[in-house]
Amino acid sequence: MKNKTKKSLLLLVFCISVCMASGCGKGSGSTDNKGERKIIYVGHNQPADHPTNLGMLAFEEYIEKELGDKYDVQVFPNELLGSQTDMVQLTQTGAIDICVASNAIMETFSPAFTLFNLPYLFTSVDAFYAAMEDESITEPIFSSTDGAGFSVVTWLDLGTRNFYTVSRAIEKPEDLRGLKIRVQQSATNVEMMKRLGGSATPMGFGDVYTALQSNIIDGAENSEIVLTANGHGEVCKYFSYDMHQITPDSVIVNNKFLEGLPEEDRETFEKGFALINQVERENWDVSVAEAKKRAETEQMVQFIYPDTKPFQELCSPIHEEYLKSNPEKQPIYDKIQEYNTYYAAESK
Ligand code: GCU
Repeated sequence: MKNKTKKSLLLLVFCISVCMASGCGKGSGSTDNKGERKIIYVGHNQPADHPTNLGMLAFEEYIEKELGDKYDVQVFPNELLGSQTDMVQLTQTGAIDICVASNAIMETFSPAFTLFNLPYLFTSVDAFYAAMEDESITEPIFSSTDGAGFSVVTWLDLGTRNFYTVSRAIEKPEDLRGLKIRVQQSATNVEMMKRLGGSATPMGFGDVYTALQSNIIDGAENSEIVLTANGHGEVCKYFSYDMHQITPDSVIVNNKFLEGLPEEDRETFEKGFALINQVERENWDVSVAEAKKRAETEQMVQFIYPDTKPFQELCSPIHEEYLKSNPEKQPIYDKIQEYNTYYAAESK
């Protein structure tokens, strides 16, 4: 059976079982066979050995160790519960409880997230980490979805996003001309590609491998881990460190589920959410190093280190236009620039 058909069938079976277990229309709240433990459905789109999944498994272990008599956490990796957009919608309605959403998908649910999608917003990974630890920056963005039925409970590292292509090394923006590059489905990502001169092809994460293999696209953009773990490096032989984005993934939770937690359990869950971030980040650098080695030795990918300045210059009007239409975000933007300046010399 084709991968996609299999996934759709699994999703259908999942929706039917959630519906039957919870009584359709009631949202989440399904319990195990004995009716004793609430099942917590967690979905994301990364493979089993990805740091995101390791973080989620640590969460499962922790919650079940502390509150195993009441909750059964079930983690579904690999888009088994649907695409990211599907999963966010399912989390919104409460059909599932927790999922991971990229910043681009979040932008389509809440415009406040656009800020973090601006290309070259962060000039180094350390500036990004510092900003993510600063609640005066993250809180106004992360809390903007509360009215949409879900809350951001923590964020995840996904490294730097870079272009990788099938047959042409990207050394300068001109090299992108005429190439169809998969971007995430958000207005900012399409605009970024337009400014850089390539042809933006928005599509869901799960469709990228097939699109690369069948020459529908000439390249994509993501981290070293996605390049190898998702097989993109089997087709794309040039990975160019243009570092156009450093964005967080968000771990989001259905509000009814969160607010319905007894006070004494809520504290444990908050610790569990923090653990997802901690374990994911602890595993990130090692996974990147392993991915890079695999890309070079098994997939024969060539890593290229272009001057990022010309890319950055082409994208700077996106910042200006954004700030013109969103002047209320200027103070947060300025704060980020302070971190950029502070960490400029220490960029990873
Ligand atoms: C990264 C990110 C995912 C996102 C994916 C994409 O892997 O962690 O959340 O879905 O990029 O490009 O769609």
